[in-house]
Amino acid sequence: MIVILFGPPGCGKGTQAGIISKDINIPHLSTGDMLREAVKSKTEIGLKAASIMEAGKLVSDEIVIGIIKDRIAKHDCFNGFILDGYPRTLSQAKELDNMLDKQDLKTDIVLEFSVNDEVLISRIEGRFSCADCGAGYNDQSKLPLKEGKCDQCGSSNFIRRKDDNRETVTKRLEAYNKDTLPLLPYYKEKQVLFSIDGLADIDNVTNELMSLIKK
Ligand code: AP5
Repeated sequence: MIVILFGPPGCGKGTQAGIISKDINIPHLSTGDMLREAVKSKTEIGLKAASIMEAGKLVSDEIVIGIIKDRIAKHDCFNGFILDGYPRTLSQAKELDNMLDKQDLKTDIVLEFSVNDEVLISRIEGRFSCADCGAGYNDQSKLPLKEGKCDQCGSSNFIRRKDDNRETVTKRLEAYNKDTLPLLPYYKEKQVLFSIDGLADIDNVTNELMSLIKK
């Protein structure tokens, strides 16, 4: 099954992809995570992408399409995958269709998170994670059970993303509205687009997603 989680920064794509990937046992592919990993490892792609991501702009189609092409060719994607943060432009969507077409596959479902900008900004400003194991937290909705200690690994080393500040989020939202939102008619025409309430609590969002995926 090929699932696309679609929506603006902070709508919950990464949170839900992590949960449903375990439920339906297919990998969670986040282009944002892959790019951050490349930045951390200072690869050629990472060096090109770092300043673009920090500015809240989109990394070039050429780079991102290349990353996805390599990733979906891997064995663990054989039974499908969940895309989080890809596609973000019409070229990326068309290129994905070409890749899938060659294997007689197609996108089964695109799930669009319906939210509002103020909630997104507050969620993003509150987000932090454990630098050692990657566990995610939020100042508003999910603090570690013991103050200053990661629930999963006990580390006291927490980090925030460089692009998680109000100014950059505003730029990321502008990029979403300009380049990514116009993809909705593309998927609507293919009759694979469903909208879900991204303002509901995390468990309710998961239930809504799972019921649409299992239909
Ligand atoms: P990327 O990493 O994809 O960031 P994003 O799309 O901006 O999305 P986020 O990770 O900020 O949000 P999310 O929807 O995953 O929310 P989350 O679940 O974490 O991209 C980063 C950058 O990389 C881009 O700006 C661009 O430069 C580049 N890039 C990536 N892909 C690209 C592409 N295809 N083309 C070009 N460039 C690309 O939730 C946010 C917070 O809210 C968390 O703390 C969470 O706990 C909390 N939360 C989640 N759901 C709920 C809920 N229901 N109720 C309460 N709190 C909730």
